Amino acid sequence: MKIQIITLFPGMFEGYFSSSMMLKAQKIKKLDLKIINLRDFGLGSHKTVDDIPYGGGDGMVLKIEPLVAAVDFAKKQDKSAQVILMTPRGKMYTQKLAQELADQNAGLIIICGRYEGYDERITKYVNRQISIGNYVLTGGELPAMVIADSVVRLIPGVLGGETSAEKESFSDGKTVEHPQYTRPEEFQGMKVPEVLLGGNHAQITKWREEHSKR
Ligand code: ADE
Repeated sequence: MKIQIITLFPGMFEGYFSSSMMLKAQKIKKLDLKIINLRDFGLGSHKTVDDIPYGGGDGMVLKIEPLVAAVDFAKKQDKSAQVILMTPRGKMYTQKLAQELADQNAGLIIICGRYEGYDERITKYVNRQISIGNYVLTGGELPAMVIADSVVRLIPGVLGGETSAEKESFSDGKTVEHPQYTRPEEFQGMKVPEVLLGGNHAQITKWREEHSKR
């Protein structure tokens, strides 16, 4: 899957995507990640990307021209990609939506908002507006990482030999994964449930099902 992220802060993505599963996904060619610096599409010699809002008010607003130029650039690399705008005004993100994005077999172009906002006209160029929760962050970078992580882990082969993503927490939107324990059997007086210590797989499955209910 090709994921292109448009941001003013490319450095924010370095650590996350060069570690753990996101690194593995790239190594095994399941993820082709490109970070696009919005500044490269800024206007004039100062590479201006923002301006004061019409109507007055605090803060700066991301200008439409650099945003559209960056989206056009990304679209040239991947014509069928879905364009997603990260915004607290978007549709609430859920596991179901993550699955939808993973299933649609198209790349993603994710736009990270910043400052006080973005010129609303960018919404004409996007397929979806997504919020990752009912709170306001300083920008769309963390939300973009949330989308990328939750979608990439659903690509067959990324989680490998571990429990398949489909069997796991929230995949049906109703249940959460059962609690897990590992050694030691007892820690500061807290014991691992007896049933998990025996080898009765039917009983273990039953216990896990009972403890998976939300
Ligand atoms: N940008 C700032 N806050 C956000 C949120 N909650 N979801 C998506 N994008 C955002």
